[in-house]
Amino acid sequence: MIQFQSVSKHYDTHTALRNITFSVDKGEMLFVTGPSGSGKTTLLKLIYVAEKHDEGTISIAGWELDKLKESSIPLIRRNIGFVFQDFRLLNNRNVFENVALALRIRGVGEKELKTHVFDSLKTVNLRHKSDSYPDELSGGEQQRVAIARAIVTEPTVILADEPTGNIDPDLSAGIIRLFKDINTKGATILIATHNRELFRNSGKRVLKLDNGNLVGDEKG
Ligand SMILES: Nc1ncnc2c1ncn2[C@@H]1O[C@H](COP(=O)(O)OP(=O)(O)OP(=O)(O)O)[C@@H](O)[C@H]1O
Ligand SMILES: [Mg+2]
Repeated sequence: MIQFQSVSKHYDTHTALRNITFSVDKGEMLFVTGPSGSGKTTLLKLIYVAEKHDEGTISIAGWELDKLKESSIPLIRRNIGFVFQDFRLLNNRNVFENVALALRIRGVGEKELKTHVFDSLKTVNLRHKSDSYPDELSGGEQQRVAIARAIVTEPTVILADEPTGNIDPDLSAGIIRLFKDINTKGATILIATHNRELFRNSGKRVLKLDNGNLVGDEKG
């Protein structure tokens, strides 16, 4: 599903990822961990084609990113749900509309759209906040809106960047259970986190980054 072969990424003079090789099967759920600045977000951004790699090859669902036309990027993103570390909610739209946006872009009809949006909001326990605006929500609530937005289209790949960074331990465990459920239904899921509690004893694969190097690939 996702293949990295000797991939490096530089930001000016800084090397954020160095010679990274790994592959993820369809339907796998795994964690990407490592200290702050080790390259977790960069790795997810390369998959989302939000950043371009400088060396090596990346292929996603059979698409080789080097050979990708700019116009095909939306086709790849259509199948990927991204939970951004900094949420990226639209402050001038309420919770419902933030979650609904991707469905509107796809031209989903109003009735079906409502069902999907409310289902997603229920999943993250935020059905009661659908009329609120992002700046009226706590950090943890905003984070859960970002998760609802990422899952509402039922993407085949979910990339979640510190999805529990602002959430208390009980709710965090619930969010991880939620990702496991979605994974059981077939989605491929990568979760970047520095929080070991999330994957300890999870039985899931853990990729460990350190200063841009892939230093571990083990079960959590
Ligand atoms: N747009 C950018 N321009 C320049 N340097 C960047 C940019 N984005 C990231 N970096 C650098 O690349 C390195 C990896 O950053 P990245 O955001 O991938 O780390 P991370 O593992 O996600 O860290 P954190 O746990 O703090 O979120 C860091 O040293 C960072 O300063
Ligand atoms: Mg990060």
